[in-house]
Amino acid sequence: MRNIDKIYASLGLAWLIGAAAFGTWLGASGHPNFAQSHAHIGLLGFVASVLFGLMHKAWPELRQSRLALPQLVVYEVGTVVLLTGKVMIDASGQPNLLLMTGAPIVIIGGAMFLWLFVKSPATAPATMLSPAE
Ligand code: HEM
Repeated sequence: MRNIDKIYASLGLAWLIGAAAFGTWLGASGHPNFAQSHAHIGLLGFVASVLFGLMHKAWPELRQSRLALPQLVVYEVGTVVLLTGKVMIDASGQPNLLLMTGAPIVIIGGAMFLWLFVKSPATAPATMLSPAE
């Protein structure tokens, strides 16, 4: 998929806005019990998504794989499910099905990216161009 790097980076930036808004809310309203949810939105959502996007940019051969789009979908859906469960556990203190379902989906998404990365063909070295003398 040609523009998967930009899709990943855009999703990451959307997560950043979500994490920042959530952090602003929890700080302003005095809800420190949601601090871990806020941190997970920033790290699993913003940081990891932007890193996946930058890796697709740095290794363009990754996007040729048929696994590239399914990996994005699995990771992002898993993150939404996990984070919803994390917010619920911060609110109630009780473990819930969403957290228990989202966690393995996120792990599978990470493993899919590892597979994509390890199995991708080595990049051909860029041709060195010398300026004309
Ligand atoms: C406008 C932007 C943000 C605001 C207003 C904000 C606000 C806060 C506040 C108020 C806390 C402390 C909660 C407590 O009382 O324990 C906090 C903790 C934290 N934030 Fe943010 N935050 C912002 C952006 C981010 C982003 C983008 C990330 C990650 C990429 C992040 C990661 C964390 C982490 C790791 C903690 C510590 C959580 C813990 O102690 O369990 N924050 N933030």
